[in-house]
Amino acid sequence: MNAQYLHGKKIILGVTGSIAAYKTAILTRLLIKNNASVKIIMTPFAKEFITPVTLATLSKNTVLCDFFKHDDGKWNNHIELGIWADLMLIAPATANTIAKLANGICDNLLLTTSLSARCPVIIAPAMDCDMLAHPATIKNLETLKSFGNIIIEPSAGTLASGLEGKGRMEEPEKIISFINDFFNPHKKLNKKKIIVTAGPTYEAIDPVRFIGNYSSGKMGYAIAEELAFRGAEVTLISGPVQIKTQAKNIFCIPVTSAQEMYENCLKYFPESNGAVMAAAVADYTPTATSPQKIKSGKNNFSVKLTPTPDIASALGKIKKKSQLLAGFALETENIAKNPYNKLIKKNFDFIIINSPNDKGAGFLYDTNKISILDKNNNIENFKLKSKVEAAKDIVDKIYKWFEPQ
Ligand code: CTP
Repeated sequence: MNAQYLHGKKIILGVTGSIAAYKTAILTRLLIKNNASVKIIMTPFAKEFITPVTLATLSKNTVLCDFFKHDDGKWNNHIELGIWADLMLIAPATANTIAKLANGICDNLLLTTSLSARCPVIIAPAMDCDMLAHPATIKNLETLKSFGNIIIEPSAGTLASGLEGKGRMEEPEKIISFINDFFNPHKKLNKKKIIVTAGPTYEAIDPVRFIGNYSSGKMGYAIAEELAFRGAEVTLISGPVQIKTQAKNIFCIPVTSAQEMYENCLKYFPESNGAVMAAAVADYTPTATSPQKIKSGKNNFSVKLTPTPDIASALGKIKKKSQLLAGFALETENIAKNPYNKLIKKNFDFIIINSPNDKGAGFLYDTNKISILDKNNNIENFKLKSKVEAAKDIVDKIYKWFEPQ
């Protein structure tokens, strides 16, 4: 595989004690093949899974394991290593190393190097599915993201334990492609300020009931994280969701109702370079909210509704030529016509179309099947893929809008 942006890059590869350590042989080979310089640090347990001799041979460099070289007493200078590198990649990263990194513990060379590294740190976790799903690990990964570390999500499949689930270290080819994207200057949105709306809105009927929808927020959050990964400064205006993000460069504003989302979008849009409207905003809100819980009764009961502000249209009206406005169209019928009309009506630069009629697409899935339609009626169709992958296609389109070739 050709990963041209790795050429000449200095990479520290940190290897920890997981069965996935065997994959670091291939990872190292691919780094070297793509002309990166590689220095490898292993934790003591990593040596149980793959030998330093193998990795030293493949990386063409001595593998570092200890603070000191025992034969001559020389110190392996972790500060120098962290300054030398353009990137530190920890792959595989065990739950133990992740926990230590999140808490600043540095009782081995890999940890001290990571703590003192001035370069970006990318972490590819590998562990049993239950360990990955444990609140402690979830919290530690969130903490690492808040430090600015980048996580390569583990994939799902058969694990070393024989269990099926999420926890496999991402395949070396995919890690290489991820790092190549990271160094790709043509994908960067450095310092662009972008608003993303995400999730549903809840419109209160009384203190305990609301009108809402099934939006999980996953698509909007994935877009926000991908934008941040590419260097944008993101303002994520999010309705009530079960997920959260700690990624650096994402300023999260939690809101509940369409009115609150509207007010925040209008507040931040004038100083932004663009906005991606991924929220499933309620179209109507109760005309009046009962201050007390409404009592049950035997008679029919109706709630009078008033339309909510159309946030996208409001931004479309004040948008300058230099500002991007992208929206979503979730359509169940008239898929050929409705999205284009919506794009024109709301003054979107492009619109991302998805339909709950497509299997695996829409609110409740981790996957999505999107098409992107622009003002010139050009349409790009994408395959069904994870929302994280679909977010990359959307952010590629955003990049091209800002930097037309
Ligand atoms: N949108 C918005 N504010 C609203 C309603 C929608 O910002 N009050 C945005 C959504 O975030 C999305 C786009 O407009 O990017 C289209 O949303 P959609 O619900 O499909 O469109 P509606 O205008 O509500 O039209 P309809 O429900 O009639 O299809």
